[in-house]
Amino acid sequence: MGSGIAEVAAKAGLEVILRSRKQETADAMIAGLEKSLAKQVERGKLTEEDRDATVARVSATSDLHELKDCDLVLESIVEDLGPKKELFNELDRICKDSTILATNTSTLPVIEMAMETGRPDKVCGVHFFNPAPMMALVEIVKPLTASDETIAAVHDFVGACGKSAVEVIDQAGFIVNNLLFPYLNNAVRMFENGVATKEGIDEAMKGGCNFPMGPFALLDLVGLDTSLSILEALYDEFRDPNYAPRPLLKRMVAAEQLGRKSGKGFYDYSRK
Ligand SMILES: NC(=O)c1ccc[n+]([C@@H]2O[C@H](COP(=O)([O-])OP(=O)(O)OC[C@H]3O[C@@H](n4cnc5c(N)ncnc54)[C@H](O)[C@@H]3O)[C@@H](O)[C@H]2O)c1
Repeated sequence: MGSGIAEVAAKAGLEVILRSRKQETADAMIAGLEKSLAKQVERGKLTEEDRDATVARVSATSDLHELKDCDLVLESIVEDLGPKKELFNELDRICKDSTILATNTSTLPVIEMAMETGRPDKVCGVHFFNPAPMMALVEIVKPLTASDETIAAVHDFVGACGKSAVEVIDQAGFIVNNLLFPYLNNAVRMFENGVATKEGIDEAMKGGCNFPMGPFALLDLVGLDTSLSILEALYDEFRDPNYAPRPLLKRMVAAEQLGRKSGKGFYDYSRK
């Protein structure tokens, strides 16, 4: 998600610093971004001039201190509250007082990240969808502490990125994942119960509901580890059995079958 969001912001004309814990990973993210832009040039969707200008606006670092003068820092690290809270604490110490600190979390309580900082009024959720360059929506998540100025500034950012924004309160799953994940989880239940094959279920939801992809292809795209974390956060918040992650999903994550990112999930991507 991180490199996709960087691509969107840089294409919108913003200066972007991509930070990863390792310089090699940060450099690889830039290489991935360049590849994505090259494809757009090939398809005639981007001029070579715009590609070069976009690439020139992005730099890569492993040093968190390089973010100190940013107006907005948007974290998109692993969907786990512990590391996210630690990161917000560090960013709060490093960044200038006016920096807005935002999270791309899919479900986790934004308020818990805000309260790790001395600036809870300047913390909110800015939830891009996957893949960020293609998806039109961004959910702007407003924790109880966020100021109207922060939310207005984030609306400006999302608008500049050419995305449409929907505001939502800080509640697990926000709008989209709150509605989407019981469906994905129930698809896994249906497959576990032998009602149909995963290919059959995917085909049915594409052809019968006009969805661009079926639930198993979507779970593989999101990542099964991220999906499991999302369901756990939803279940933790609402205690609704529809959110309780299905056993197969848990076993697949334990087996490191995480979807596209590991080369195998419900489908095999190793030769693609
Ligand atoms: N996958 C999706 O479809 C999707 C969609 C919208 C939002 N999100 C959210 O975006 C965030 C990232 O998701 P992703 O799918 O890109 O996950 P991912 O597993 O592909 O990437 C997470 C990255 O975070 C890095 N990381 C882990 N701990 C870190 C730390 N302490 N400091 C810095 N980096 C660390 C990992 O090395 C990895 O590169 C999550 O909060 C997720 O909920 C994901």
